[in-house]
Amino acid sequence: MLKSCLLVACIQLMQLARAACTSCMVDVYENLYKTAFEKSLDYEFPVDSRSHQAISNTAEPTDFGDYDFVVIGGGSTGAVLASRLSEIPDWKVLVIEAGDWPDELVSITSASYKITIMSDYNWGYYSVPQNNTCLGFEGNRCPLPRGKGLGGTSLLNALIYVRGNRHDFKKWCDMGNPGWCYEDVLPYFLKSENFHLTNKDAPVDAKYHNTSGPLWIEQPVPLHEHHKVFLKANEEMGYKIRDVNGEEQIGAMPFQINTKKGRRQDSGTAFLKPVLDRTNLNVMHNSLATKIVFDGQTAVEVHFLNKGIKYKVGVKKEVILSAGAINSPQLLMLSGVGPAEHLQELGIKVVADLPAVGQSYSDHLQVHGLVFTSNLSEPIPPLRKSIKEFLEQGTGDWAEAAPTQAVGYYRTRLEKTPGYSDLELSFQDTNATTDAMSNCYRWKSNVSSSISIVNASSSFQIFATPLHTNSLGQVTLKSADPLDFPLVDPNILSDEEGQDFEIVYEAIQFVLNLTQQEAFRKIDAKFSHQPLLECSDEEFMTKDYWRCAAKYIVNHNNHPVSTCKMGPDSKGNVVDHTLKVYGIANLRVADASVIPLSTSSHINSICYMIGEKGADMIKADWLNSI
Ligand SMILES: Cc1cc2nc3c(=O)[nH]c(=O)nc-3n(C[C@H](O)[C@H](O)[C@H](O)COP(=O)(O)OP(=O)(O)OC[C@H]3O[C@@H](n4cnc5c(N)ncnc54)[C@H](O)[C@@H]3O)c2cc1C
Ligand SMILES: *[C@@H]1O[C@H](CO)[C@@H](O)[C@H](O)[C@H]1NC(C)=O
Ligand SMILES: *[C@@H]1O[C@H](CO)[C@@H](O)[C@H](O)[C@H]1NC(C)=O
Ligand SMILES: *[C@@H]1O[C@H](CO)[C@@H](O)[C@H](O)[C@H]1NC(C)=O
Ligand SMILES: *[C@@H]1O[C@H](CO)[C@@H](O)[C@H](O)[C@H]1NC(C)=O
Ligand SMILES: *[C@@H]1O[C@H](CO)[C@@H](O)[C@H](O)[C@H]1NC(C)=O
Ligand SMILES: *[C@@H]1O[C@H](CO)[C@@H](O)[C@H](O)[C@H]1NC(C)=O
Ligand SMILES: *[C@@H]1O[C@H](CO)[C@@H](O)[C@H](O)[C@H]1NC(C)=O
Repeated sequence: MLKSCLLVACIQLMQLARAACTSCMVDVYENLYKTAFEKSLDYEFPVDSRSHQAISNTAEPTDFGDYDFVVIGGGSTGAVLASRLSEIPDWKVLVIEAGDWPDELVSITSASYKITIMSDYNWGYYSVPQNNTCLGFEGNRCPLPRGKGLGGTSLLNALIYVRGNRHDFKKWCDMGNPGWCYEDVLPYFLKSENFHLTNKDAPVDAKYHNTSGPLWIEQPVPLHEHHKVFLKANEEMGYKIRDVNGEEQIGAMPFQINTKKGRRQDSGTAFLKPVLDRTNLNVMHNSLATKIVFDGQTAVEVHFLNKGIKYKVGVKKEVILSAGAINSPQLLMLSGVGPAEHLQELGIKVVADLPAVGQSYSDHLQVHGLVFTSNLSEPIPPLRKSIKEFLEQGTGDWAEAAPTQAVGYYRTRLEKTPGYSDLELSFQDTNATTDAMSNCYRWKSNVSSSISIVNASSSFQIFATPLHTNSLGQVTLKSADPLDFPLVDPNILSDEEGQDFEIVYEAIQFVLNLTQQEAFRKIDAKFSHQPLLECSDEEFMTKDYWRCAAKYIVNHNNHPVSTCKMGPDSKGNVVDHTLKVYGIANLRVADASVIPLSTSSHINSICYMIGEKGADMIKADWLNSI
């Protein structure tokens, strides 16, 4: 009797202690969050990389020893490669990463758009001033957020896990890249994946998922009411609710995202942290690679800066450049690999004349301003409630990067191939434009007031993303100095035939049609976009209005690709189908820059696939030749 009494008392005490502990943990996280948030409000981006500057410019680089493989950039792709290459105990692998390891705050999934995007974890790039697009941003410069740190851009992205359409990879193959067809790449998507069904109501095509890889995938729960309306309206329009990562892509689904029990699964956390005890793997953070040094056509050294000291590391087998779609072409050019004319103008000695380096820059588009009001109101949970749910269950709005939980893929009349999507809609409720996001984007005030949400609990917006674009931009060097930021000209909506605007217009019409379906009528959904002052010469809602508005409200979708394009020859391409740089013996590029044609999806999972496949190709080359 006494014993059982004691037991009950003991359990009660433990529960009390746990409750007190949770409440103190909520305090800790609330504090962490509020402090970081305050700091982010005053944060200003650097305008160059001079924070990495060497203390002495003349000192000879300090010898850092020799490594079999030097991976430059520990981002989405680089982390996968380093993890897989270091599985071979005989291979010494070095990762050189410019940024830091993610801190506790970064691991809070929702911190990215609210805080991290305005911190040292973002390089803080902006485009060169644009003449015809990005006119809604200060200085007419498109924002170009890029992650800096172990995990790269997956430290600040929305973690949306979508793999693209099988026709994307068929096209890659047809362009002269054997081994990159859908059947070839699917096993590499699966190899990474650790799928967790967290929303029992969401359709999942189990055949297309693996449950034992290193990268967690979950579905955000609970699903917000507005998102249910979006999915219902899709059905009313004849689209299936399906796993868009499964057999067929066209249709809509509740998101699959890269979180582990609600925490951010960036690539460093998923792929590198678990293997850091390998003695053959060395990860150098806060280290800026400044040059790849060649002996003839062979990479022999990489130079980098760490805490003001300049180092050189010897390369025994290969250099793998995974610095992303902006920095990979920059570092190639700084090292003498790129368009000869451009390099000579800047006084850089040409190692290999590759005119395609930095060219073919392309991206998806994002149409802003498709905002609506409704009479369905969902209360915004108080901060402490969100924190508690996040800590205890790993769910709720702290477990999501943005209040976006559903996506759809569609084929408009402009896409001829059956089953191939050329339009994505992602649905977002509450105000997606957080302070940090608007400080990063720098919307001009008279534009943002036309396209903002008016009621935080009942408004919603739909981001329309045209997927197949024709406009090409470029990355060039500002100077031969590795501490200068490169010049980026996204040049969106610039194609001569105006096809990219046609799909933007089609996308807007599609969204207007979707929001007139019964499900949206039931919540009295109304378009709340205010006519842009800048377009007051055009009649509101006409095609000419949207042609004008597009210059202000269409941005790229943060998915730049093709600046080190993969293809069959060195004329329009930089790497071959094994990711080897043309004209160089032992240098590969592996990141979003090799993507020859953007996929009908977001591209982070594609980067993981490139990392997995790249590592396998390297293993095949070096292990079979021994
Ligand atoms: C705001 C935003 C939201 C996004 N949302 C999604 C999403 O929800 N889903 C999705 O699939 N995709 C999303 N993306 C896109 C996706 O995250 C990126 O395309 C992807 O992370 C790119 O991977 P990467 O390996 O090419 O480059 P990165 O991940 O950018 O890695 C490059 C790494 O190299 C390092 N580096 C660069 N230069 C040097 C140097 N000189 N020396 C040393 N290190 C260097 C960088 O610091 C970085 O860590 C988003 C992107 C952004 C910006
Ligand atoms: C914009 O126009 C100016 C003036 O014609 C030109 O100098 C500049 O290069 C153009 N910018 C871009 C990004 O095309
Ligand atoms: C699942 O992942 C594990 C670990 O990466 C891998 O060994 C296995 O082959 C994968 N399964 C499939 C079906 O790809
Ligand atoms: C927001 O919309 C809801 C639902 O229509 C309404 O109840 C509420 O009063 C609105 N709030 C404001 C600030 O307009
Ligand atoms: C939405 O964000 C914009 C830009 O930050 C802001 O001006 C507006 O007041 C916000 N709307 C609501 C309802 O919070
Ligand atoms: C939108 O609906 C109208 C009227 O039903 C139709 O003519 C048009 O083709 C639709 N457009 C799109 C892009 O769905
Ligand atoms: C919302 O509007 C619809 C359509 O007008 C109406 O049928 C419904 O009752 C309204 N709901 C609320 C909660 O006001
Ligand atoms: C928009 O705002 C800017 C300054 O904020 C101003 O220079 C410009 O004239 C405005 N445009 C219109 C059409 O009002």
